[in-house]
Amino acid sequence: MCGIIGYIGKEEALPVLLKGLTCMEYRGYDSAGLSVGDEQHAFQTVRAVGRVVQLTKRAAEVSLRGHVGIGHTRWATHGGITENNTHPHTSCDGKFILVHNGVIENYAALKEHLKKNGCTFYGDTDTEVLVNLIAWHYRQFSDISTLSKRFKASVRKALSELQGTYGIAVICTDCPNELIGARKSSPLVLGVGKEELFLASDIGAFGGRTKDVVFLSDGEIVHLQGNEFHITGADERALSPTVETVDWDTDVSDLGSYTSYMQKEIFEQPKSLENTMLGRFSADGSSAHLGGLQLSADELRRAERLLLIGCGSAYHACKVGEYLLERYARIPMEVEYASEFRYRNAPLSKNTLIFVVSQSGETRDTLDALHEARRKGLRVSAITNAVGSTVARESDGGVYQRSGSEIGVASTKAFTGQIATFLLLSLYLGRMREMSFSEGCRLVQALKDLPTCVKEVLASCDDWARTTAKKYAKCQSFYFIGRQMLFPIALEGALKLKEVSYIHAEAYPGGELKHGPIALIEPSFPTFVLASDPDMLSKNINNMTEIKARKGQVIALGIEGCPFPKDLCDDVFYLPKVHEAILPIITVLPLQLFAYYAALERGCDVDKPRNLAKAVTVE
Ligand code: G6P
Repeated sequence: MCGIIGYIGKEEALPVLLKGLTCMEYRGYDSAGLSVGDEQHAFQTVRAVGRVVQLTKRAAEVSLRGHVGIGHTRWATHGGITENNTHPHTSCDGKFILVHNGVIENYAALKEHLKKNGCTFYGDTDTEVLVNLIAWHYRQFSDISTLSKRFKASVRKALSELQGTYGIAVICTDCPNELIGARKSSPLVLGVGKEELFLASDIGAFGGRTKDVVFLSDGEIVHLQGNEFHITGADERALSPTVETVDWDTDVSDLGSYTSYMQKEIFEQPKSLENTMLGRFSADGSSAHLGGLQLSADELRRAERLLLIGCGSAYHACKVGEYLLERYARIPMEVEYASEFRYRNAPLSKNTLIFVVSQSGETRDTLDALHEARRKGLRVSAITNAVGSTVARESDGGVYQRSGSEIGVASTKAFTGQIATFLLLSLYLGRMREMSFSEGCRLVQALKDLPTCVKEVLASCDDWARTTAKKYAKCQSFYFIGRQMLFPIALEGALKLKEVSYIHAEAYPGGELKHGPIALIEPSFPTFVLASDPDMLSKNINNMTEIKARKGQVIALGIEGCPFPKDLCDDVFYLPKVHEAILPIITVLPLQLFAYYAALERGCDVDKPRNLAKAVTVE
């Protein structure tokens, strides 16, 4: 894991690959490499631990020429972060060069077999086993009439022996004007440009050079030869693929006037939320419609329960969705981590509607949960941001959140986009069930006002977040507490802080503080109290009193018109009084900015936090 790019075309491959790798940097990685060559130029590989800039420097030291190439950013799974483990990997006979995302589970047995047959290995990765397996079959297939057919047969044979997941791009030096790509449970997209073809794990890697794509399905193999491509299915039959034009910003490299993608994406939220809601309100102004769900009104009315599934921030958005849908649609709700759902085998009635939520649409755990639910005959809808992603294609329908490309590893605008989608769903379902016309109208108006409100809150809390983060950035631990819909926001606030500043942070429902966590409160251990829900005000004040009694510091987010006693908070920011349903979105804004400024204060790279990946495509 993490990002693949392949190129064959009229341009020199090196700059195209470097741009592709740069466009995928946001996914998180710890080393990068590429191989370039063609009929005139022998293939050469450069690899570097660290960032793509390091790789670019290395590549400049060697004269890399050629119109064919593959590149990779690696997020270590098998083997440490070393140059030897960095992709591309080359077979020991030097004939094959390969990049791979995924995990090969039976790599140890295959390695043993290859070693017995004379293969030598320089690193610890499962990928090096795969490239040697292809080379070994190539040697066995010496009777196949053409090198090109032999190349393809060897890749197909090797893949058939694998257990696990893969997205690959592979070069055979005997066929220097060709590339082969294949996928199984790991994304791979073919880009069709003018006299050029691409392979990538992410359409962002095309660097804006084409929007015409073919999304490969599991088991498919694509063979690129010059300007032509041929796709075959798992049964070896030739397929006639549809080239789709994606409505998605495929050039994501522009930072504009911002210093980081995280900052840019936080401040894009007024616009991204507007996009999420655009054209989705009903004409009478009391409801919403979500056509992509492909669920009839009857099916929705019959639903007895909704189960929401996601990972990381998407899971937190599901937790907000749980409160929203329960309150406004009056439907029994459950939320589950994707990784837990898959193995839990909970009894589920046929009238349970499942929603999987994933910004990238490629998270392995979420996809596995989707497959598990469908295997049991349940209908799965998706909420996703990435157009054409695997989650989008493999679900029974869904809603695109239209938040635009999110590059920062720590989710910000996609998280609020997911909550906005749940708000629309609450309206849609609510109006079919118990929500009155006037209640619907009030909620629609609140949602229409949301982008402006978000803009104002961001403008007013930016300085506060910067100053407060500076004051507390040296603290080693934080609590975040909130009640009801603000409990998942506390979880998200703590996650944001951990992800980008590496400060330890935990979140609890306000009422839980006294049941254990309070033991750690002391003057250097601050607590964020999310107290912007007026119904919970007295309960939140109780929390502050308990913390102050133990000499803890309180950073409070309150609501205008409900001032806290001055002696109960060390720092406070008052949010505007808004419709309760949009409180989760406006409350998370100061927390996103706090995490962002705390990370800057501690010298962290906010867009590429250590150890994290934007899309985790392994289990
Ligand atoms: C990774 C990312 C998180 C993200 C989670 C789910 O762990 O680092 O920021 O929330 O995956 O991602 P998804 O694309 O499925 O929403």
